[in-house]
Amino acid sequence: MLSIIIPTFNEKHNVYTVTDRICQVLDGEEFEIIFVDDSSDETPEFLARISKENPRVSYIHRNGERGLATAVTTGFQACRGSILTVMDADLQHPPELLPQLLAKIKTGHDLVVPSRFIPGGDDGGLSLLRKIVSRSARALAWIALKKARHTTDPMSGFFMFRKHIIDGLELNPVGWKILLEVLVKGNYRSVAEVPYRFQPRAGDESKMSFKEQLNYLRHLFRLVCTSPEDSRFWKFSLVGLSGVFVNLAIYTFLVGMFRTNVVLSGVLSAFIAMFSNFMLNDHFTWKNENSQPFLVRLAKFYIYCSIGIFINAAVLTVFYESANLNYILANLLGIATATFWNFTSNNKWTWGTNTGDLIPDDNRENSLG
Ligand code: GDD
Ligand code: MN
Repeated sequence: MLSIIIPTFNEKHNVYTVTDRICQVLDGEEFEIIFVDDSSDETPEFLARISKENPRVSYIHRNGERGLATAVTTGFQACRGSILTVMDADLQHPPELLPQLLAKIKTGHDLVVPSRFIPGGDDGGLSLLRKIVSRSARALAWIALKKARHTTDPMSGFFMFRKHIIDGLELNPVGWKILLEVLVKGNYRSVAEVPYRFQPRAGDESKMSFKEQLNYLRHLFRLVCTSPEDSRFWKFSLVGLSGVFVNLAIYTFLVGMFRTNVVLSGVLSAFIAMFSNFMLNDHFTWKNENSQPFLVRLAKFYIYCSIGIFINAAVLTVFYESANLNYILANLLGIATATFWNFTSNNKWTWGTNTGDLIPDDNRENSLG
């Protein structure tokens, strides 16, 4: 059974039409429609009437509560289907797409996202300003969250999935982007997309606000913090920064207190700083990722970071000598490249974390049996 969850806030002009159009296209399928309503207008009276006339429709009215994403998670808990869809009430998400989405699920995909950004799709139903905001938000999501890259439209408020992919998960969205939450936390193995044209709003007005856009940033930050694969790079950089201070402290101690040779002090303090970086990364950045013996991890860390020093020098040389860049900028570029190398190589080979990649589309049917 398919459960269609529709959050509503003051949508009295749309709830009838959206119900009608869904019932028309899904004729013959087993489905239910659940409205989760926070309205302050007469929408609840409309919903009461619709659910009386149509046994497939039910609604939950939350008194005094607001919030798109929590409305959706309330719907997740109340629904009976094993396949769930979330869509808006205002017909910007055409119900006529539902059979196509369902077909994708039935061929074995766990999650289907209608996308405005693949050939045949279109985000024309948004104003120019909203388009810019929406696309920047998408770019941010892609940068910050690896799993957001599983779809071309992670900002979508329209998607369908098998319920088991969220079983036992604690979904904790702030704001609007419930799909991001499912993408980052869900246990899915394959994602499909279907192109669609985002329609102009049918009736009533948009509830998107500046406050929700700020909430989005909070949500993104929270997702990064709770997702080990996405927070690792930032933790690694933080540890790297601490290494600079360790290095400087030991260096000034050796030179200042013991009048040790400057070059020798530099080498010694670098080695000790690398060791402190290793210990911090082992206990903090890649906590619980110790499939290899301690000494192997330690040796690998030293080897990859030493290669990093060469990469740093090479990039610095290229930009300083050949491109005539300012010497500090050239070194910063070198540091950035080396940091990226150090992170990637150690992530892959020293701590060997699971990449969590999806099954490629061509092999999917085989591997799912
Ligand atoms: N229950 C409940 N509570 N529903 C809400 C609330 C709320 O606080 N706020 C909004 N909704 C409902 C609306 O009634 C509508 O059905 C749906 O959520 C989307 O709200 P819109 O006001 O139509 O948002 P939009 O068109 O600006 O944004 C939509 O398109 C975006 C694409 O860029 C949403 O689907 C976004 O999630 C999507 O990213
Ligand atoms: Mn809308």
